[in-house]
This record gives sequence, structure tokens and C-alpha cells, in this order.
Amino acid sequence: MIDKTCVEGDDEKYTILISEEQIMRRVKELAQQISDDYRDKCPILIGVLNGAFIFLSDLIREMDIDCEVDFVKISSYGGGRISTGQIKTKKQFDSHVDGRHVLIVEDIADSGRSIKFLEKMFEGTKPASLKFASLLLKEGNAVVDFKLDYVGFTIPIKFVVGYGLDFDQRYRNLRDIYVLD
Ligand code: IMP
Ligand code: MG
Repeated sequence: MIDKTCVEGDDEKYTILISEEQIMRRVKELAQQISDDYRDKCPILIGVLNGAFIFLSDLIREMDIDCEVDFVKISSYGGGRISTGQIKTKKQFDSHVDGRHVLIVEDIADSGRSIKFLEKMFEGTKPASLKFASLLLKEGNAVVDFKLDYVGFTIPIKFVVGYGLDFDQRYRNLRDIYVLD
């Protein structure tokens, strides 16, 4: 059952953490910052499927520079709420990235393993620059060293859904971000 302030699943309950209004305000700020940083550079924004598809589509529509869009798909969560730590590439990007400015767009960084994995994916390529944006960052949960160039919100170490983020493939279509009680 979904209403404005809470989501009830089979045996779980989520309450609102970040509202649609807060998200859109922050996405606009990030888009402005990215537009300023990449002016006349026509960056390739590579969204990390599935979670980042909504963030990426809102982000690029708030940007006022030319850009290209591509996707990679990786997986680590085997359907649960705990990362398996085993990351696999499910879909590689298609773009020729050599000499291009590449910005990876993630939904959330938790342990940092996915960001590290994505960084490694570009070993052997020669992008003009490689940067990372994540809408959310779970503070203090890193198990590897990683760096984000753009962060939307820092959140507590709790499981969240909505605005692209899922539990077991559900709840991606929620307009706000919810936290598991
Ligand atoms: P990391 O590799 O541990 O940093 O986890 C990053 C990936 O795990 C993200 O791209 C998400 O797909 C997924 N993930 C991490 N935390 C959450 C969460 O709270 N809700 C939904 N997905 C999450
Ligand atoms: Mg993700």
C-alpha cells in the first residue's frame, strides 16, 4: 500500500526520507554545477542501470549544455537488502570514450564497491576525464577507498527505496525516497 508518507510491503514499512520537492531542488543544483563544469565539453553521462535511470533523466533535462547519454548495467544485490559484494557487468557501455569527458551517474554509493568496479571498467581506455556523480551517499559505510565528484544527499546507513531505487525490483516508481523503518 502506497500513500504520500509511508509505504507498506508484505512485512516491511517505509517512511519518507527525502521528498520529491527536495530531490528536484537538489537535482537542479547539481545540473547547474555540472553544466558549469562541462561547458563546451559535451560530456558523456553514463547511467548505471537499473537504479540511476530516473536521476539521470531528470538531471540531463535540467542541464543547459550539450551532452550524450549511455548506460552500463552492473549487479551486486542478489534481490535482497544486503550487497553480495560480487559485482558483475551485465551490459557494457557502447560509446567511444577515448578523448571524451565521461561522467558516471549512480543512484547510491554504499560500500563503494560499485564505484570502484566502475572505475576499473575504464582501465585501458583514455577518457579526457572520468568523474562520478551519485544522488545518494551512505555516510561511513565504505569498505573500499572511493571518491565521488558530485553527491546529492548524504544519508544514514539504512535501506532506502524510491526515485529509481528498488527492493526486489519494486518501488522504483515512487516519486519520493523512503527509508525502511
Ligand atoms: P555499493 O557497491 O555497496 O556501494 O552499493 C551500490 C549499489 O547497491 C547501488 O548502485 C544500488 O544499486 C545498491 N544499493 C545500495 N544501497 C541501497 C539501498 O539502500 N537501496 C537500494 N539499493 C541500494
Ligand atoms: Mg546502482
